[in-house]
Amino acid sequence: MNKPELHIVILAAGRGKRMRSQLPKVLQPVGGQPMLTHVLEAAQQLPYDQIHVVYGHGGEQIRKVFADSPVNWVEQSEQLGTGHAVAQAMPLIPDNADVLVLMGDQPLITTQTLQILMIAGGDLALLTMKLDDPSGYGRIVRNVAGDFTAIVEHADATSLQLEINEVNSGVYRFPAGRLKQWLSRLDSSNAAGENYLTDVLAMAVAEQLWTKTREVDDPNELLGANDKRQLARLERIYQQRQSDQLMDAGVTLADPGRLDVRGRVQTGEDVYLDINTVLIGKNFLADGVSIGPGCVLEDCRLAAGTQVLANSVLQGVVTEGACSIGPFARLRSGTVLAAGVKIGNFVETKKAVIGANSKASHLSYLGDSVLGANVNVGAGTITCNYDGVNKYQTTIGDNVFIGSDSQLVAPVSIGSGAFIGAGSTITQNAPEDKLTLSRRKQVTIDRWQPPKRRQRSSD
Ligand code: UD1
Ligand code: CA
Repeated sequence: MNKPELHIVILAAGRGKRMRSQLPKVLQPVGGQPMLTHVLEAAQQLPYDQIHVVYGHGGEQIRKVFADSPVNWVEQSEQLGTGHAVAQAMPLIPDNADVLVLMGDQPLITTQTLQILMIAGGDLALLTMKLDDPSGYGRIVRNVAGDFTAIVEHADATSLQLEINEVNSGVYRFPAGRLKQWLSRLDSSNAAGENYLTDVLAMAVAEQLWTKTREVDDPNELLGANDKRQLARLERIYQQRQSDQLMDAGVTLADPGRLDVRGRVQTGEDVYLDINTVLIGKNFLADGVSIGPGCVLEDCRLAAGTQVLANSVLQGVVTEGACSIGPFARLRSGTVLAAGVKIGNFVETKKAVIGANSKASHLSYLGDSVLGANVNVGAGTITCNYDGVNKYQTTIGDNVFIGSDSQLVAPVSIGSGAFIGAGSTITQNAPEDKLTLSRRKQVTIDRWQPPKRRQRSSD
């Protein structure tokens, strides 16, 4: 017998009014990514045939963000309830399929937990959790024998039922054909006046289908976010997970509570992250990389032994060997540093390819530049790469010494072994192995007198 198809339906049509935001609820970020991204990632690792996302509020925005996702978009133009939402996707799902229903605002769900539901057996299955404070959630009602009988929503529950602390997570597996029939029988005669998806479970029980419940170990996984406080809570749980994963991979964290990962990190051995590190996008940190306090790294590839000192911001940086960066350095995209490069405090680089063992230790701007090996860039050196309209290239050969406070007006090239006198404004190419400088000779005025305080009449 062929395995039934698996169709995953993600409910994402809610407005999320309590977020008080222009951004639709499922686009609110956790770990720098929309909540829906996390749900999709967990779902996509299952052997599914089709993922359907039910959208409504902010549909245009959502579809734009997920334009590249191979999901089937189903519009629910009016939010008439979770049952109505699922019903919108059903015409596209064959009767013999399994349907997994997920909520778009439960970003901490993991594939492993979804698998528990997949292998739970029975005709249908749902994930439950026990909460100290179950308010707001649908309660799991059982008979005296302990068998599941129904879900009762908070607003519709009796005071006895409100005492139940086992709640519905909102994640279910249904047989598609039956689900279609049940959904067609739903009405909105309840406290919310909505079509409750949860009502189909009592129908399944009445038809004596085998309904399995599985309680999850970690209720955190199924927490949703309706407002910014809950969103912040999810963020902290998410970040704790990232810290745990990094530590499991051998990374030393100065403080697991003061690290934010907004993307993916790959690490070698003996990587060290000091406090308040923010890692954005895709970062690769090879063996022995050390990141000082207060650094931001976005889409960087740092080679083994690279040291980033306090308060540095790196975007799209590649180091090809051990380098020293910072403190207070800003390295922008297109910065490629060969082994042994030193970039010191208050240095900004952009599209700068810098050769082995070259140094810019203080207060410089290196943009649209190619530097050879063993170059010494003096404090205050600026590549003037922009004339207000176009950008131009600066090329510097090997073993060049650039005296402090020099301006290199691009396009310009400095030959290997050249020495640029301090305070020069270089507008033409400087030849190899020669001293070039462009400043006036120093003069001293012998007859000079220091200024005297003027006598004022009122004094
Ligand atoms: C729902 C469950 C409740 C469960 C809880 C878990 C129902 C009736 N109740 O309650 O038993 O404990 O989730 O978090 O299902 N949505 C749509 N279209 C709609 C209505 C909702 O797409 O017409 C989406 C929302 O965007 C959201 C999800 O469905 O992602 C859940 O809706 P929500 O209103 O938050 O349900 P809860 O009241 O939390
Ligand atoms: Ca909810």
